[in-house]
Amino acid sequence: MAMEARAPTIPVESHKRMETHDFKRAGLRVVGTGDDDGTSSSRNYDVAVVGLGYVGLPLCLAFAKKGVSVLGVDTDPEKPKALQAGQSYIRHIDDQAISAVVSNRRFTATDDFARLSEAEAILICVPTPLTANRVPDLSYVESTVKSIAPHLRHGQLIVLESTTYPGTTDEVVRPLLEEGSGLCAGTDFYLAYSPEREDPGNPKSNFENVPKVVGGYSATCLERAKVLYGRIVAEVVPVSSCRIAEATKLMENIFRSVNIALVNELKVIYSRMGIDVWEVIRAAATKPFGYMPFYPGPGLGGHCIPIDPFYLTWKALEYGHHTRLIELAGEINTAMPEYVVSRVIDALNDAGKPVKGSRILVLGIAYKADVDDDRESPSYAIMQSLEQRGAEVFYNDPHVPKIKEGRSNHAIAGRDSVDLPYEADVVVLCTGHREYLEIDFSRMEVPLVDCRNVVHMRPQAYYAA
Ligand SMILES: NC(=O)c1ccc[n+]([C@@H]2O[C@H](COP(=O)([O-])OP(=O)(O)OC[C@H]3O[C@@H](n4cnc5c(N)ncnc54)[C@H](O)[C@@H]3O)[C@@H](O)[C@H]2O)c1
Repeated sequence: MAMEARAPTIPVESHKRMETHDFKRAGLRVVGTGDDDGTSSSRNYDVAVVGLGYVGLPLCLAFAKKGVSVLGVDTDPEKPKALQAGQSYIRHIDDQAISAVVSNRRFTATDDFARLSEAEAILICVPTPLTANRVPDLSYVESTVKSIAPHLRHGQLIVLESTTYPGTTDEVVRPLLEEGSGLCAGTDFYLAYSPEREDPGNPKSNFENVPKVVGGYSATCLERAKVLYGRIVAEVVPVSSCRIAEATKLMENIFRSVNIALVNELKVIYSRMGIDVWEVIRAAATKPFGYMPFYPGPGLGGHCIPIDPFYLTWKALEYGHHTRLIELAGEINTAMPEYVVSRVIDALNDAGKPVKGSRILVLGIAYKADVDDDRESPSYAIMQSLEQRGAEVFYNDPHVPKIKEGRSNHAIAGRDSVDLPYEADVVVLCTGHREYLEIDFSRMEVPLVDCRNVVHMRPQAYYAA
């Protein structure tokens, strides 16, 4: 069959939520509507999600809650096992949310990739980190796609959701799927890219109300993906290609990285000038146009902002372009943990103590408040830098009871969170967890270094960082 034409340019427009009959017309079943006879082993699930982490698991739940039957697949056998037992391994997702959809059979989790042939659509949510040399590491995406290919069936829709550089779906995913299956994208199976906009731990962020950008390999691919996502979000934003959708996600995260770098730089300058940057931001944010607030911090963390901009940086080199602003933002943000260390040194110095031999307590390992995600956390850089200077460093984090080995924390992996109160020469608040907002630091005799401006009952020796 001849390859159909690529998707024409489609204006960004709202796509109304699909009604049940539209959903069925698009070849998707709705559990509990009478078409769920369970007799066809080839299409037991409407959707399969590969990679059950911070992005994949909420996506499974969003579909399952809407009555869509979901198969979750992960290479880590412990995850499907926990989910099948109704247990969550992500702190801000409660067990009850899992057990509800497992017990009504809308959600099944497995580590068996052969079962992917049972799904109408397969969504890929695996990690896209950087290598040690800071180049894109697509090995997770590639191995996932190679595992899917032998099970690919006619008519299936494959959507990549992992954040990546423009061109990945077309240049990396499509050839691997076609070679491994003997099928042709756009005719035999459908291919799309749709970036995730998950905001972990934000109770105000409602999956349904966050518009979802979708780009298809062809017009039909796009149509299939629009129908699918129309089931779980109020607005689908179709764009003309997978590349546009991939570039959209990077633009969003680069925008954040650059703006965070700007406020981090202003924080340092204003601090030297004796000006409180937080008060400045509060005042600037009253401008009703042309400004939106970003907040300084101890450095970037998580799987997105410290990593994603460098996917574009790498790809841009292929076009002979050096992404100067993106890299400068990265440099400024990466320097922030050392700025915090310099403030700790100031605090100790004012107390007449050297760093060497001092006991330092870090509050918060998670990269943001009220989550358990410690990936790329700036707390690790701060702790390791202080230890290299001879300090004894301890930490408390109600969400991270033990430090798991990660890319950038080898020197301190395996340590346990200490209980509060804990005796120290200086306290460094790195994460604004809810638990810390309640603490009255005003009678604390040692200095406090506050990286988040969340402490209002302050000790006499208070240092903003
Ligand atoms: N975490 C966020 O807030 C966020 C937000 C938007 C986009 N993203 C992007 O989404 C993607 C996934 O991120 P995440 O935070 O969910 O990662 P994660 O590490 O939390 O989850 C990834 C899951 O994939 C599994 N996995 C790894 N290799 C696999 C394979 N070959 N087959 C099947 N499963 C495999 C892992 O066991 C893990 O459970 C990344 O590209 C990330 O940049 C993340």
